[in-house]
Amino acid sequence: MIEDISFIDNTKNFKQSLFQGIIFKFSPSDKSIELIDSIKKEIKFHYANNLDTLHLEKNAEFIAKNLIKTLKNQDSFLNIFKEILKEINFNINECYRDKFVVRIAPAESNKATYEASRIGVHRDTWGTNIFQQVNWWAPINSLDKSNTLIFYPDYFNKPIKNTTSSWDLDIYLKKRKLGEFDYPSAPQLLEDFHTNTKIIRVDIEPGEILCFSGSHLHSSSKENSNISRFSYEIRTVSQSDIDNNLKAPNVDCELNRQYPKIFRHINHNQKLKISR
Ligand SMILES: [Fe+2]
Repeated sequence: MIEDISFIDNTKNFKQSLFQGIIFKFSPSDKSIELIDSIKKEIKFHYANNLDTLHLEKNAEFIAKNLIKTLKNQDSFLNIFKEILKEINFNINECYRDKFVVRIAPAESNKATYEASRIGVHRDTWGTNIFQQVNWWAPINSLDKSNTLIFYPDYFNKPIKNTTSSWDLDIYLKKRKLGEFDYPSAPQLLEDFHTNTKIIRVDIEPGEILCFSGSHLHSSSKENSNISRFSYEIRTVSQSDIDNNLKAPNVDCELNRQYPKIFRHINHNQKLKISR
């Protein structure tokens, strides 16, 4: 289910596989290491101790919250990420992206401070209703399997009950702007998994980059760990996939509109528009 890759030989085959549920893991490159190093360097300005043991600090949640805020949407990180996309032969000239985000998942599963928390089960497409969406995710420090990303691949083509029919991205964004965090950041599950549901715990090293369809059902792991997890993520949508109707299946999203406005062109910053 997770395929190792270093270069996209054939864009059409790559995208078809992606939208059929294949999860790709790109091998490390000088650029991907440069990105990790530059994020770590920036972190060091604000927090000089070991990232793995951030949770042992007395004011860990405060530090995490401030780090996330400081590191969010930095042009320098985005520029290196663009270089990575070019290097792996991903066409950036028709590529829209959302914000470049650094996330901190606390070692203790129940600790949650805004974006510094373990994430519940969801599909990213539940938030946007755009099935051409591609997720890029990479660890910054070494992670262990008790604090990693989990996929539920059986559900890529199978519906699961959720709150998309009543969730609204605009309400969430509005509240977040006001500093109110009482609205769920994504739609939520309304049923339990079937017994024997297959799970994939991602095993990945800093420098490697995971690339998967935004339709994949996934979550953070829920066990307590000894390591605080630092990772970065960004989502892209390619214009050609919209034009060619190349996308993942919608099996259970009931949002009544799409939210292209969170995506901007990676070069000229114009908002993505999807005409219906
Ligand atoms: Fe997600």
